[in-house]
Amino acid sequence: MKIDDFRLKLGKKEFVPIVIGGMGVNISTTELALEAARLGGIGHISDALVPTVVDQRFHTHFVMNKLKRYQSNIGNRDKSKVHFDLEELAKAQRLYVSKTMEAKQGEGDIFINCMEKLTMNDPPGTLRTRLIAAMDAGIDGITLSAGLNLRSLELVQDHPRFHDVKIGIIVSSVRALKIFLRRASRVRRLPDYIIVEGPLAGGHLGFGVKDWHRYDLKEIVREVLIFLKAEDLKIPVIPAGGVFTGTDGADFLQMGASALQVATRFTVTKESGLPDDVKQKYLEAEEQDVVVNSVSPTGYPMRMLKQTPALSATTKPNCEALGYILDSQGNCAYAKAYYDAYEKKPGGEIIVKDKICLCLQMKTYRCWTCGHNVYRLKDTTRRLSDGSYQLLTAEHVFRDYQFSADHQIQLPTPRTP
Ligand SMILES: Cc1cc2nc3c(=O)[nH]c(=O)nc-3n(C[C@H](O)[C@H](O)[C@H](O)COP(=O)(O)O)c2cc1C
Repeated sequence: MKIDDFRLKLGKKEFVPIVIGGMGVNISTTELALEAARLGGIGHISDALVPTVVDQRFHTHFVMNKLKRYQSNIGNRDKSKVHFDLEELAKAQRLYVSKTMEAKQGEGDIFINCMEKLTMNDPPGTLRTRLIAAMDAGIDGITLSAGLNLRSLELVQDHPRFHDVKIGIIVSSVRALKIFLRRASRVRRLPDYIIVEGPLAGGHLGFGVKDWHRYDLKEIVREVLIFLKAEDLKIPVIPAGGVFTGTDGADFLQMGASALQVATRFTVTKESGLPDDVKQKYLEAEEQDVVVNSVSPTGYPMRMLKQTPALSATTKPNCEALGYILDSQGNCAYAKAYYDAYEKKPGGEIIVKDKICLCLQMKTYRCWTCGHNVYRLKDTTRRLSDGSYQLLTAEHVFRDYQFSADHQIQLPTPRTP
Protein backbone atom coordinates (compact mmCIF):
# COMPACT_ATOMS: atom_id res chain seq x y z
CA MET A 1 0.00 0.00 0.00
CA LYS A 2 1.07 3.58 -0.55
CA ILE A 3 -0.18 6.89 0.76
CA ASP A 4 -1.78 7.69 -2.59
CA ASP A 5 -4.23 4.80 -2.13
CA PHE A 6 -5.96 6.94 0.50
CA ARG A 7 -7.62 10.37 0.68
CA LEU A 8 -8.25 12.72 3.59
CA LYS A 9 -11.79 14.10 3.78
CA LEU A 10 -12.24 17.36 5.65
CA GLY A 11 -15.71 18.82 5.33
CA LYS A 12 -16.63 18.72 1.65
CA LYS A 13 -13.03 18.58 0.39
CA GLU A 14 -10.69 15.70 -0.34
CA PHE A 15 -6.92 15.92 -0.05
CA VAL A 16 -3.84 13.86 -0.73
CA PRO A 17 -3.36 12.76 2.91
CA ILE A 18 -0.06 14.55 3.45
CA VAL A 19 0.17 17.55 5.76
CA ILE A 20 3.43 19.49 6.01
CA GLY A 21 3.63 20.50 9.65
CA GLY A 22 4.16 24.04 10.90
CA MET A 23 7.83 24.81 11.50
CA GLY A 24 8.58 28.10 13.21
CA VAL A 25 10.27 30.47 12.83
CA ASN A 26 9.65 30.66 9.09
CA ILE A 27 11.08 27.23 8.30
CA SER A 28 7.73 26.12 6.87
CA THR A 29 7.64 29.14 4.59
CA THR A 30 4.82 30.41 2.43
CA GLU A 31 6.61 28.77 -0.53
CA LEU A 32 6.67 25.37 1.18
CA ALA A 33 3.01 25.57 2.17
CA LEU A 34 2.06 26.69 -1.35
CA GLU A 35 3.74 23.63 -2.82
CA ALA A 36 1.80 21.29 -0.53
CA ALA A 37 -1.45 22.98 -1.55
CA ARG A 38 -0.56 22.91 -5.26
CA LEU A 39 0.10 19.17 -5.01
CA GLY A 40 -3.29 18.55 -3.39
CA GLY A 41 -2.17 18.21 0.23
CA ILE A 42 -2.12 20.63 3.15
CA GLY A 43 0.74 22.98 4.00
CA HIS A 44 1.23 25.00 7.15
CA ILE A 45 2.66 28.40 7.63
CA SER A 46 3.50 29.30 11.23
CA ASP A 47 2.73 32.56 12.97
CA ALA A 48 5.73 32.33 15.30
CA LEU A 49 7.37 35.79 15.39
CA VAL A 50 5.05 36.95 12.63
CA PRO A 51 6.01 40.67 12.85
CA THR A 52 9.67 39.71 12.28
CA VAL A 53 8.82 37.41 9.39
CA VAL A 54 6.60 40.04 7.77
CA ASP A 55 9.30 42.73 8.15
CA GLN A 56 11.77 40.46 6.36
CA ARG A 57 9.32 39.59 3.59
CA PHE A 58 7.57 42.89 2.99
CA HIS A 59 10.00 45.48 4.37
CA THR A 60 7.53 46.65 7.01
CA HIS A 61 8.68 48.06 10.37
CA PHE A 62 6.65 46.22 13.00
CA VAL A 63 9.67 45.18 15.08
CA MET A 64 11.28 48.62 14.89
CA ASN A 65 8.03 50.28 15.95
CA LYS A 66 7.79 48.08 19.03
CA LEU A 67 11.44 48.57 19.86
CA LYS A 68 11.06 52.36 19.61
CA ARG A 69 8.19 52.29 22.11
CA TYR A 70 10.22 50.36 24.69
CA GLN A 71 13.82 51.36 23.94
CA SER A 72 14.22 52.95 27.37
CA ASN A 73 13.45 49.60 29.03
CA ILE A 74 16.40 47.73 27.47
CA GLY A 75 18.62 46.41 30.27
CA ASN A 76 15.79 46.52 32.80
CA ARG A 77 14.98 43.04 34.10
CA ASP A 78 11.35 44.01 34.60
CA LYS A 79 9.66 43.37 31.24
CA SER A 80 6.10 43.53 32.56
CA LYS A 81 5.34 46.75 30.70
CA VAL A 82 6.63 45.56 27.34
CA HIS A 83 3.49 44.82 25.35
CA PHE A 84 2.61 44.07 21.76
CA ASP A 85 0.32 46.62 20.16
CA LEU A 86 -2.58 44.33 19.25
CA GLU A 87 -3.59 46.37 16.21
CA GLU A 88 -0.04 46.18 14.83
CA LEU A 89 0.08 42.45 15.56
CA ALA A 90 -3.23 41.96 13.72
CA LYS A 91 -1.92 43.97 10.76
CA ALA A 92 1.23 41.84 10.52
CA GLN A 93 -0.77 38.60 10.74
CA ARG A 94 -3.33 39.75 8.13
CA LEU A 95 -0.59 40.80 5.73
CA TYR A 96 1.26 37.49 6.10
CA VAL A 97 -1.80 35.31 5.72
CA SER A 98 -3.50 37.28 2.94
CA LYS A 99 -0.34 37.39 0.79
CA THR A 100 0.06 33.63 1.23
CA MET A 101 -3.56 32.88 0.42
CA GLU A 102 -3.54 35.13 -2.67
CA ALA A 103 -0.73 33.01 -4.12
CA LYS A 104 -2.46 29.68 -3.50
CA GLN A 105 -3.00 27.37 -6.47
CA GLY A 106 -4.28 23.81 -6.74
CA GLU A 107 -6.79 21.78 -4.80
CA GLY A 108 -5.02 21.69 -1.46
CA ASP A 109 -5.32 23.95 1.59
CA ILE A 110 -3.11 26.21 3.65
CA PHE A 111 -3.35 26.13 7.43
CA ILE A 112 -1.57 28.18 10.06
CA ASN A 113 0.17 26.73 13.12
CA CYS A 114 -0.59 28.84 16.20
CA MET A 115 1.35 27.99 19.34
CA GLU A 116 -0.37 28.76 22.63
CA LYS A 117 3.02 28.88 24.35
CA LEU A 118 3.89 32.08 22.49
CA THR A 119 2.40 33.95 25.41
CA MET A 120 3.67 37.41 24.36
CA ASN A 121 3.05 39.08 27.75
CA ASP A 122 -0.72 38.83 27.19
CA PRO A 123 -1.58 35.21 26.47
CA PRO A 124 -5.31 35.46 25.70
CA GLY A 125 -5.15 38.89 24.04
CA THR A 126 -2.33 38.12 21.63
CA LEU A 127 -3.59 34.62 20.79
CA ARG A 128 -7.09 35.94 20.10
CA THR A 129 -5.63 38.67 17.89
CA ARG A 130 -3.53 36.18 15.91
CA LEU A 131 -6.43 33.75 15.43
CA ILE A 132 -8.95 36.42 14.42
CA ALA A 133 -6.53 38.11 12.02
CA ALA A 134 -5.74 34.77 10.36
CA MET A 135 -9.44 34.07 9.87
CA ASP A 136 -10.08 37.60 8.59
CA ALA A 137 -7.30 37.13 6.05
CA GLY A 138 -8.84 33.95 4.65
CA ILE A 139 -6.75 31.12 6.11
CA ASP A 140 -8.22 27.69 5.29
CA GLY A 141 -7.46 26.17 8.67
CA ILE A 142 -5.86 26.72 12.07
CA THR A 143 -3.82 24.15 13.96
CA LEU A 144 -3.73 24.90 17.68
CA SER A 145 -0.43 23.69 19.10
CA ALA A 146 2.13 23.90 21.92
CA GLY A 147 -0.24 23.82 24.85
CA LEU A 148 -3.51 22.32 25.96
CA ASN A 149 -5.34 25.20 24.22
CA LEU A 150 -8.24 24.95 26.65
CA ARG A 151 -9.39 28.53 26.13
CA SER A 152 -8.41 28.94 22.49
CA LEU A 153 -11.80 28.08 20.94
CA GLU A 154 -13.69 30.30 23.37
CA LEU A 155 -11.49 33.23 22.38
CA VAL A 156 -12.81 33.22 18.82
CA GLN A 157 -16.29 31.73 19.15
CA ASP A 158 -17.94 34.99 18.00
CA HIS A 159 -15.98 35.20 14.75
CA PRO A 160 -18.22 34.79 11.67
CA ARG A 161 -15.85 32.09 10.33
CA PHE A 162 -15.77 30.11 13.60
CA HIS A 163 -17.74 27.24 12.09
CA ASP A 164 -16.39 27.52 8.56
CA VAL A 165 -12.61 27.66 9.11
CA LYS A 166 -11.11 24.25 9.82
CA ILE A 167 -9.69 24.01 13.32
CA GLY A 168 -7.42 21.22 14.53
CA ILE A 169 -5.60 20.45 17.75
CA ILE A 170 -2.22 18.84 18.36
CA VAL A 171 -2.14 16.39 21.25
CA SER A 172 0.41 13.88 22.48
CA SER A 173 -1.93 11.72 24.56
CA VAL A 174 -5.51 10.59 24.73
CA ARG A 175 -5.67 12.33 28.11
CA ALA A 176 -4.86 15.74 26.62
CA LEU A 177 -7.43 15.09 23.90
CA LYS A 178 -10.15 14.28 26.42
CA ILE A 179 -9.46 17.50 28.34
CA PHE A 180 -9.56 19.56 25.12
CA LEU A 181 -12.81 17.94 23.95
CA ARG A 182 -14.51 18.54 27.29
CA ARG A 183 -13.70 22.22 26.98
CA ALA A 184 -14.65 22.32 23.28
CA SER A 185 -18.10 21.01 24.13
CA ARG A 186 -18.75 24.30 25.98
CA VAL A 187 -18.66 26.16 22.68
CA ARG A 188 -20.24 23.28 20.75
CA ARG A 189 -17.33 23.14 18.35
CA LEU A 190 -15.48 19.86 17.83
CA PRO A 191 -12.08 20.01 16.16
CA ASP A 192 -12.14 19.14 12.45
CA TYR A 193 -8.98 17.06 12.80
CA ILE A 194 -6.69 15.80 15.55
CA ILE A 195 -2.94 15.71 15.04
CA VAL A 196 -1.39 13.12 17.34
CA GLU A 197 2.24 14.08 17.74
CA GLY A 198 4.55 11.40 19.06
CA PRO A 199 7.95 11.50 20.77
CA LEU A 200 10.07 11.56 17.57
CA ALA A 201 8.79 14.94 16.32
CA GLY A 202 10.79 18.13 15.90
CA GLY A 203 10.27 21.38 17.77
CA HIS A 204 8.80 21.26 21.28
CA LEU A 205 7.61 17.92 22.63
CA GLY A 206 4.68 16.88 24.79
CA PHE A 207 6.90 14.31 26.57
CA GLY A 208 9.58 14.52 29.24
CA VAL A 209 13.29 14.99 28.54
CA LYS A 210 13.99 11.71 30.31
CA ASP A 211 11.02 9.56 29.31
CA TRP A 212 10.17 10.50 25.70
CA HIS A 213 11.74 7.28 24.42
CA ARG A 214 9.29 5.19 26.42
CA TYR A 215 6.38 6.36 24.28
CA ASP A 216 5.40 5.11 20.87
CA LEU A 217 3.37 7.04 18.29
CA LYS A 218 1.55 3.94 17.05
CA GLU A 219 0.40 3.10 20.57
CA ILE A 220 -0.90 6.62 21.18
CA VAL A 221 -2.67 6.73 17.82
CA ARG A 222 -4.28 3.37 18.57
CA GLU A 223 -5.54 4.66 21.94
CA VAL A 224 -6.92 7.81 20.32
CA LEU A 225 -8.71 5.80 17.60
CA ILE A 226 -10.24 3.46 20.20
CA PHE A 227 -11.39 6.39 22.32
CA LEU A 228 -12.97 8.22 19.36
CA LYS A 229 -14.77 5.05 18.26
CA ALA A 230 -16.10 4.45 21.76
CA GLU A 231 -17.41 8.02 21.86
CA ASP A 232 -18.79 7.71 18.31
CA LEU A 233 -16.76 10.73 17.23
CA LYS A 234 -15.76 10.78 13.57
CA ILE A 235 -12.82 13.16 13.64
CA PRO A 236 -9.88 12.52 11.31
CA VAL A 237 -6.71 11.52 13.17
CA ILE A 238 -3.35 12.63 11.76
CA PRO A 239 -0.21 11.04 13.27
CA ALA A 240 2.99 13.09 13.32
CA GLY A 241 6.57 12.47 14.37
CA GLY A 242 8.94 10.01 12.75
CA VAL A 243 6.93 9.19 9.59
CA PHE A 244 9.94 9.00 7.30
CA THR A 245 8.87 6.94 4.30
CA GLY A 246 5.64 6.63 2.35
CA THR A 247 5.34 3.11 3.74
CA ASP A 248 5.52 4.40 7.34
CA GLY A 249 2.64 6.67 6.37
CA ALA A 250 0.61 3.98 4.61
CA ASP A 251 0.90 1.73 7.70
CA PHE A 252 -0.81 4.45 9.79
CA LEU A 253 -3.51 4.96 7.16
CA GLN A 254 -4.23 1.22 7.17
CA MET A 255 -4.59 1.41 10.96
CA GLY A 256 -7.38 3.96 10.58
CA ALA A 257 -5.52 7.28 10.55
CA SER A 258 -6.74 9.78 7.94
CA ALA A 259 -3.50 11.55 6.95
CA LEU A 260 0.09 12.08 8.10
CA GLN A 261 1.81 15.21 9.30
CA VAL A 262 5.46 15.33 8.28
CA ALA A 263 8.16 17.95 8.63
CA THR A 264 11.81 16.88 8.99
CA ARG A 265 12.17 15.63 5.42
CA PHE A 266 11.06 19.05 4.16
CA THR A 267 13.65 20.97 6.19
CA VAL A 268 16.24 20.30 3.47
CA THR A 269 14.11 21.35 0.53
CA LYS A 270 14.80 24.50 -1.44
CA GLU A 271 11.50 25.96 -0.20
CA SER A 272 12.38 25.52 3.50
CA GLY A 273 13.36 28.75 5.23
CA LEU A 274 16.55 27.35 6.79
CA PRO A 275 19.67 28.92 5.32
CA ASP A 276 21.45 26.55 2.90
CA ASP A 277 24.45 26.03 5.19
CA VAL A 278 22.13 24.96 8.00
CA LYS A 279 20.37 22.54 5.63
CA GLN A 280 23.79 20.95 5.08
CA LYS A 281 24.20 20.58 8.88
CA TYR A 282 20.90 18.71 9.00
CA LEU A 283 22.04 16.49 6.13
CA GLU A 284 25.38 15.77 7.81
CA ALA A 285 23.82 14.92 11.20
CA GLU A 286 24.45 11.56 12.84
CA GLU A 287 22.06 9.86 15.25
CA GLN A 288 24.26 10.66 18.27
CA ASP A 289 24.01 14.39 17.41
CA VAL A 290 20.27 14.50 18.16
CA VAL A 291 19.36 15.54 21.70
CA VAL A 292 16.21 16.33 23.66
CA ASN A 293 16.86 18.99 26.29
CA SER A 294 15.18 21.57 28.48
CA VAL A 295 16.88 24.74 27.24
CA SER A 296 13.68 26.22 25.80
CA PRO A 297 12.29 28.93 28.09
CA THR A 298 8.76 27.73 27.24
CA GLY A 299 9.22 24.92 29.77
CA TYR A 300 8.65 22.27 27.09
CA PRO A 301 11.39 19.81 26.12
CA MET A 302 12.79 20.46 22.67
CA ARG A 303 14.69 18.29 20.18
CA MET A 304 17.71 19.75 18.42
CA LEU A 305 21.16 19.00 17.07
CA LYS A 306 23.83 19.18 19.74
CA GLN A 307 25.90 21.38 17.39
CA THR A 308 23.18 24.06 17.72
CA PRO A 309 25.04 27.38 18.02
CA ALA A 310 22.36 28.65 20.43
CA LEU A 311 23.59 26.22 23.09
CA SER A 312 26.80 28.16 23.55
CA ALA A 313 25.43 31.67 23.06
CA THR A 314 24.60 34.17 25.77
CA THR A 315 22.92 37.29 24.49
CA LYS A 316 21.32 40.19 26.26
CA PRO A 317 17.52 39.68 26.22
CA ASN A 318 15.87 41.88 23.65
CA CYS A 319 12.25 41.48 24.75
CA GLU A 320 11.66 45.12 23.79
CA ALA A 321 11.94 44.08 20.12
CA LEU A 322 10.93 40.40 20.46
CA GLY A 323 9.42 39.19 23.75
CA TYR A 324 7.34 36.29 22.40
CA ILE A 325 7.91 34.02 25.39
CA LEU A 326 7.08 36.58 28.09
CA ASP A 327 4.30 35.18 30.27
CA SER A 328 1.37 37.19 31.59
CA GLN A 329 3.64 38.80 34.23
CA GLY A 330 6.38 39.66 31.76
CA ASN A 331 8.69 36.80 32.80
CA CYS A 332 10.82 34.59 30.58
CA ALA A 333 13.06 31.84 31.99
CA TYR A 334 15.97 32.92 29.77
CA ALA A 335 15.71 36.60 30.73
CA LYS A 336 15.57 35.59 34.40
CA ALA A 337 18.65 33.35 34.07
CA TYR A 338 20.49 36.14 32.25
CA TYR A 339 19.76 38.84 34.83
CA ASP A 340 20.47 36.45 37.74
CA ALA A 341 23.90 35.75 36.21
CA TYR A 342 24.44 39.46 35.59
CA GLU A 343 23.60 40.40 39.17
CA LYS A 344 26.07 37.81 40.48
CA LYS A 345 28.87 39.26 38.35
CA PRO A 346 28.09 42.86 37.37
CA GLY A 347 30.51 43.93 34.66
CA GLY A 348 31.91 40.39 34.29
CA GLU A 349 31.35 37.85 31.56
CA ILE A 350 27.80 36.53 31.62
CA ILE A 351 27.22 32.90 30.73
CA VAL A 352 23.79 31.32 30.70
CA LYS A 353 24.04 27.58 30.19
CA ASP A 354 20.71 25.97 30.89
CA LYS A 355 18.35 28.20 28.87
CA ILE A 356 18.53 29.81 25.44
CA CYS A 357 17.07 33.04 24.15
CA LEU A 358 14.55 31.22 21.97
CA CYS A 359 13.18 34.31 20.18
CA LEU A 360 16.57 35.52 18.96
CA GLN A 361 18.03 32.09 18.28
CA MET A 362 15.03 30.87 16.26
CA LYS A 363 14.80 34.18 14.39
CA THR A 364 18.44 33.88 13.30
CA TYR A 365 18.25 30.13 12.56
CA ARG A 366 20.79 29.33 15.29
CA CYS A 367 18.57 26.85 17.11
CA TRP A 368 18.66 23.72 14.96
CA THR A 369 15.52 21.93 16.01
CA CYS A 370 14.73 18.75 14.12
CA GLY A 371 12.86 15.47 14.26
CA HIS A 372 14.61 12.37 15.60
CA ASN A 373 15.09 11.05 12.05
CA VAL A 374 17.16 14.01 10.91
CA TYR A 375 20.19 11.70 10.72
CA ARG A 376 18.48 9.73 7.94
CA LEU A 377 18.15 12.76 5.65
CA LYS A 378 21.48 11.96 4.01
CA ASP A 379 19.86 8.78 2.64
CA THR A 380 17.21 10.83 0.82
CA THR A 381 19.55 12.68 -1.54
CA ARG A 382 22.87 12.57 -3.40
CA ARG A 383 26.32 13.65 -2.33
CA LEU A 384 27.87 16.15 -4.73
CA SER A 385 31.50 16.18 -5.88
CA ASP A 386 32.37 18.97 -3.41
CA GLY A 387 31.15 16.82 -0.51
CA SER A 388 27.93 18.77 0.05
CA TYR A 389 24.48 17.25 -0.36
CA GLN A 390 22.08 18.03 -3.16
CA LEU A 391 19.06 19.97 -1.90
CA LEU A 392 15.65 18.59 -2.78
CA THR A 393 12.50 20.27 -4.01
CA ALA A 394 9.36 20.15 -1.92
CA GLU A 395 7.59 18.56 -4.89
CA HIS A 396 10.13 15.73 -4.98
CA VAL A 397 9.75 14.95 -1.27
CA PHE A 398 5.96 15.30 -1.35
CA ARG A 399 5.63 12.92 -4.30
CA ASP A 400 8.08 10.48 -2.75
CA TYR A 401 5.85 10.28 0.33
CA GLN A 402 2.76 10.01 -1.86
CA PHE A 403 3.85 7.25 -4.22
CA SER A 404 6.67 5.26 -2.68
CA ALA A 405 6.17 1.72 -1.39
CA ASP A 406 8.33 -0.89 0.39
CA HIS A 407 10.15 1.84 2.34
CA GLN A 408 11.86 2.94 -0.87
CA ILE A 409 13.07 6.54 -1.05
CA GLN A 410 13.43 8.05 -4.49
CA LEU A 411 16.69 9.98 -4.87
CA PRO A 412 16.54 13.24 -6.83
CA THR A 413 17.63 13.46 -10.45
CA PRO A 414 21.40 14.12 -10.34
CA ARG A 415 22.19 17.82 -10.58
CA THR A 416 24.12 18.60 -13.72
CA PRO A 417 27.39 20.40 -12.97
C1 LIG B 1 12.43 22.28 12.23
C2 LIG B 1 11.11 21.98 12.87
C3 LIG B 1 10.40 23.00 13.48
C4 LIG B 1 9.16 22.75 14.04
N1 LIG B 1 8.43 23.77 14.58
C5 LIG B 1 7.18 23.55 15.04
C6 LIG B 1 6.37 24.63 15.47
O1 LIG B 1 6.78 25.80 15.40
N2 LIG B 1 5.13 24.36 15.94
C7 LIG B 1 4.64 23.07 16.00
O2 LIG B 1 3.50 22.86 16.43
N3 LIG B 1 5.39 22.03 15.58
C8 LIG B 1 6.62 22.24 15.09
N4 LIG B 1 7.36 21.19 14.59
C9 LIG B 1 6.74 19.84 14.56
C10 LIG B 1 6.20 19.49 13.15
O3 LIG B 1 5.18 20.38 12.78
C11 LIG B 1 5.71 18.05 13.01
O4 LIG B 1 4.55 17.79 13.74
C12 LIG B 1 6.72 16.96 13.35
O5 LIG B 1 8.04 17.39 13.33
C13 LIG B 1 6.55 15.82 12.35
O6 LIG B 1 7.52 14.83 12.54
P1 LIG B 1 8.78 14.65 11.57
O7 LIG B 1 9.57 15.89 11.70
O8 LIG B 1 9.45 13.44 12.09
O9 LIG B 1 8.26 14.46 10.17
C14 LIG B 1 8.63 21.43 14.03
C15 LIG B 1 9.37 20.40 13.44
C16 LIG B 1 10.59 20.66 12.86
C17 LIG B 1 11.34 19.54 12.21
